Amino acid sequence: MKGLTEEAVLSLGSPLARVVEVHEALASTQDRARELARAGAPHGTLVVAGVQTGGRGRLRRSWGSPEGGLWMSLVLRPVLEAAAASRVTQTAAVAVAKALRELGANVGIKWPNDLLAEPGGRKICGILAESSIRGAAPGEAPGVDHAILGVGLNANLDPEDLGVTDHEVATLRHELGRDIEPLDLLRRLLRSLQADLKRIHDFAAILDDWRVLSVTLGERVRVRRSGEILEGRAVDLGSGGELLLLTAKGLVGLYEGEVERLRRDAGERTV
Ligand code: BTN
Repeated sequence: MKGLTEEAVLSLGSPLARVVEVHEALASTQDRARELARAGAPHGTLVVAGVQTGGRGRLRRSWGSPEGGLWMSLVLRPVLEAAAASRVTQTAAVAVAKALRELGANVGIKWPNDLLAEPGGRKICGILAESSIRGAAPGEAPGVDHAILGVGLNANLDPEDLGVTDHEVATLRHELGRDIEPLDLLRRLLRSLQADLKRIHDFAAILDDWRVLSVTLGERVRVRRSGEILEGRAVDLGSGGELLLLTAKGLVGLYEGEVERLRRDAGERTV
């Protein structure tokens, strides 16, 4: 983003931006942050790029990243058992959603971590958390060595700049009717991420916030997971953040999958 420099980002004094790299262009901040993490970069290493030429999202999809968006990845070293690694994803979704709402954008979370602008469920931000697990000593549970938390926020650009044709997208500029000063935006995101990542061990509380911010719970949804399609009502989250789906065959707990909201108005349109 224009106007972000390493000095300016360091001057925020955020525990999540102790080490900072700002690039005009990179293939993917996610890949650069992973490289740094593998070389021993500490918790709170932040990589930002003005443009990504090979930005990627969940399920190996490409992620369009032109100038004007906030494309960033953080190296985190949370003290977490491997089984709890997925907490980072939902915690980050809660934190970023709160920051965007504080700015005045009407944003909700689609399970597990897509941020959608309402009304209409237009995607405004994608979150990608990739964890690396450390082998454990005999008798100990394996733990998270590091997690790379990627945030792709459609900020100071117009929806058509993103060139996305298969679903509706939103941008902060379009939702707020103005641009946001990049350093202020980053400061707000880092502050919110720090506040929620600090309480990741109180995951029940994070999930309570997630429920309040959700646009999925209470909805009829279709979920695609590993070749299987399920339909039902999204009734709640389980204690691990899994989606509890009430289907015709009973309650199913989903740990992965692609959710579409089913709309009953215009002939079961999906969002
Ligand atoms: C999703 O599929 O919704 C997640 C998208 C994550 C995109 C961000 S942009 C910054 C970071 N670098 C990448 O290559 N991907 C993530």
